[in-house]
Amino acid sequence: MRSKIVAGNWKMNNNLEQTEALLSELSAKLPDTDAEVMVAPTYVNLAGAVASLQGSKIEVIAQNMHFAENGAYTGEISGDMLLNIGVDTCIIGHSERRAYFGETDEILAKKVASALDQGIRVMFCFGEELEDRKSDNHFKVVERQLKNALFSLDASVWSKIILAYEPVWAIGTGETASPEQAQEMHAFIRNTIAEAYNSSIADKVSILYGGSVKPGNAKEIFSKPDVDGGLIGGASLVADDFVDIIKAI
Ligand code: 13P
Repeated sequence: MRSKIVAGNWKMNNNLEQTEALLSELSAKLPDTDAEVMVAPTYVNLAGAVASLQGSKIEVIAQNMHFAENGAYTGEISGDMLLNIGVDTCIIGHSERRAYFGETDEILAKKVASALDQGIRVMFCFGEELEDRKSDNHFKVVERQLKNALFSLDASVWSKIILAYEPVWAIGTGETASPEQAQEMHAFIRNTIAEAYNSSIADKVSILYGGSVKPGNAKEIFSKPDVDGGLIGGASLVADDFVDIIKAI
């Protein structure tokens, strides 16, 4: 059985007070669920979030990390620092990091390998741009992103990987992939992993969908057999919306 996961990527939103207020509202309203529930606040609020969520089912995860364990990398954060404050899962490869911070497949491969090496669970994000889909290259692009960043990894680390397919054209645009488009791509991803590794690994990896998931469309997207949950941006900043999305799973 694959884990069902609903994760909120808060991106560069919420100062300290807003973080605490949202966490306490979420904790109070959290429905009973078998799904894993995660939130990714900004770096400066990670340790505080871990402290406020002691004993809660909600897990705090990070949005990014550097591949080096320490050293002269001004402004960066290491996996060791995350583990040290009780954060053991990190988003890597978000399209905003690729687009605005020059993160290439090569850099991401280093980040993923380093995170896994240090015992950090990786939520790896990838997805095609609008032009890729329009030119019917979306499967090729996704396959390349997976291959370049993940397929040199040893089979044994795959239990520590969560995948998040986020088509760039659906992020923050209000336009979402249709449930059929999501299912088609998720099945392709699972099949690609089965070919690169084996079907046991492919069957066990959770593949989340991200891109304008809202309370109104979550249920239908999550009902697809290869969609194991969602990575939620905007709607995760509103407690009632995030809670409704959790209920949808
Ligand atoms: P939105 O839900 O705001 O489209 O963002 C999705 C996302 O980028 C999550 O990582």
